[in-house]
Amino acid sequence: MHNNEVDMNGLVLKIEELSIAFGGLKAVDGLSFEIKENEVFGLIGPNGAGKTTAFNCITQFYKPDSGAIYFKDRKGQTQNLLDHGVHEIIELGLVRTFQNVELIRELSIIDNVLIGAHTDFKATIFSQAFRFPKAVKEEREMRAKAYKILETLGIEDRANLPVGGQPYGILKKVEFARSLISNPKLIILDEPAAGLNDVETIELASRIRKIRDELGCSILLVEHDMRLVMDVCDRICAISFGKFLAKGTPKEIKENKAVQVAYLGIEVDHD
Ligand SMILES: Nc1ncnc2c1ncn2[C@@H]1O[C@H](COP(=O)(O)OP(=O)(O)OP(=O)(O)O)[C@@H](O)[C@H]1O
Ligand SMILES: [Mg+2]
Repeated sequence: MHNNEVDMNGLVLKIEELSIAFGGLKAVDGLSFEIKENEVFGLIGPNGAGKTTAFNCITQFYKPDSGAIYFKDRKGQTQNLLDHGVHEIIELGLVRTFQNVELIRELSIIDNVLIGAHTDFKATIFSQAFRFPKAVKEEREMRAKAYKILETLGIEDRANLPVGGQPYGILKKVEFARSLISNPKLIILDEPAAGLNDVETIELASRIRKIRDELGCSILLVEHDMRLVMDVCDRICAISFGKFLAKGTPKEIKENKAVQVAYLGIEVDHD
């Protein structure tokens, strides 16, 4: 199907019949789901379900064996992401965070956020060294924007502190902030609750919703941890052994028999 014939009305991402195998193992097997504009969407499943593999297919780190991944880009044009290289994805308006936080310890928190800015801005860092007025103005604007994002995440009081020595929960937020500075349409968060305690997880959930409301973007949470997805997601897709299992609201997913069996590996009775 030609890209502009795909119905993306109200959607930011549409995955159709996605499959990829490693040797004989079908890590993702005919998976389809859609993410709406301004939606917090969760992709969940037990260990080895294929979440990270699906994630890597969306970001084009892996090229799937078959299927299509349609994305409505910054300009409102429908793109099949499979037509793009991994380095083009961020320009289209899709960003990701990494499971292992990758920051520059010697730089301040706000400078680490500014590193995530658009490539045009990075070019101006050079002209900024010569104090071109336009570059200085742009730098000031980007810095204000970065500060505002830090505010939304509740860590603005640490903006000028070096990253080195900050607790893990803060580092996760700095990485999140860095992904937001490029004005993405869709952010994919890879296990953002990993390594966080209960209090930090609940706090993160409220920040994720706030980011969605203030930046008007969609968020895809790829999570093993049920607490975060149940708290924050509008809709969830559950997978198991690479295959679609169930889709629905957190409540529907929680009550879904197939999901319970997949997660617990046993039949559960509910009264
Ligand atoms: N690069 C690879 N080469 C071979 N097999 C792989 C590769 N990546 C993943 N797999 C296999 O594909 C299946 C899905 O793995 P994947 O990492 O996507 O699961 P997951 O849902 O992210 O699990 P977890 O919750 O443990 O992170 C697993 O059986 C895994 O062993
Ligand atoms: Mg994984």
